[in-house]
Amino acid sequence: MNAGIIGIGRYLPDKVLTNADLEKMVDTSDEWIRTRTGIEERRVATDDIDTSDMAFFAAQKAIENAGITAEDLDLIVVATVTPDSPFPSVACLIQEKLGAKNAAAFDIGAACAGFIYGMVMAKQFIESKVYKHVLVVGVEKLSKITDWSDRNTAVLFGDGAGATVMGPVSEGKGILSFELGSDGTGAKHLYQDDYIVMNGREVFKFAVRQMGESSLNVLEKAGLSKEDVDFLIPHQANIRIMEAARQRLELPEEKMAKTVGKYGNTSASSIPIAIVEELEKGRIKDNDLLVMVGFGGGLTWGAVALRWGR
Ligand code: UT7
Repeated sequence: MNAGIIGIGRYLPDKVLTNADLEKMVDTSDEWIRTRTGIEERRVATDDIDTSDMAFFAAQKAIENAGITAEDLDLIVVATVTPDSPFPSVACLIQEKLGAKNAAAFDIGAACAGFIYGMVMAKQFIESKVYKHVLVVGVEKLSKITDWSDRNTAVLFGDGAGATVMGPVSEGKGILSFELGSDGTGAKHLYQDDYIVMNGREVFKFAVRQMGESSLNVLEKAGLSKEDVDFLIPHQANIRIMEAARQRLELPEEKMAKTVGKYGNTSASSIPIAIVEELEKGRIKDNDLLVMVGFGGGLTWGAVALRWGR
């Protein structure tokens, strides 16, 4: 029995911050941001919406989409590096808001790879039959830890939430293989010190290498090849990094999810948000083979090969 995604939802704040807006805030240009990152605009949550609010909105949709109730949840895992406060966890805050009174709840910190880490964790609980329904949320309010005077980082990030309900799925579907990894020697390249501090070039090199490697590794572990992939869902960090992964898999352009232009890098939430967008466009279908791959501060990385459907 495999664990798979049985419900999914996303939330994005209404407020749009365009490249033109950023031109007025730091020494940058729309042209530079578009060509170096592929980002055109991003969403920024207002002061009255914190991380747990975004997580709650996305989670409600995922639960409804799964056709279960909040009381059916056994566990809530929230991947975030921008919790409302160090404790209580965002997972506990949404446990209360959802009324998920039968669920255990905790947060995990694996930065932009956090959603993949969360999915793999859920898989262990579900496939060992310890729990049946696990809510996995990727959520970030990066705007609250962004230094809006630092052009190296201010142009990249956005706020948002993506949530999935994971549970048992039918034979041949769900998570077929995964890879998780970390390299703490790279901690110095991307961290929070009040605000996000990043050595973009080093993270870029690591990401280009790791996204391709991990994607190929999960295919090999599942006994599949590049030709079997229907859709690549890379962490939406930078179009150039995503393109490098797509080219390693030799996939045509239309087989890669792309939301980075509209939402920027929303860290742990970027993969589930991208899946919802592709589902809404009707581009992900039952039985499609998806490769999801992410990387982030830590350094961390992770990939999953998943056959879509219940
Ligand atoms: O989820 C993980 C989070 N992190 C990432 O994904 C980041 C990965 N790295 C990247 O995406 C890229 O490295 C960046 C987009 C951050 C930077 O692109 P790059 O092509 O690696 O540029 P660079 O750092 O080599 O900088 C090129 C030039 C520099 O000027 P000089 O030294 O050549 O005169 C920068 O100062 O571009 C300058 N620059 C900017 N110019 C205009 C850096 N940021 C900006 C900016 N606007 N926002």
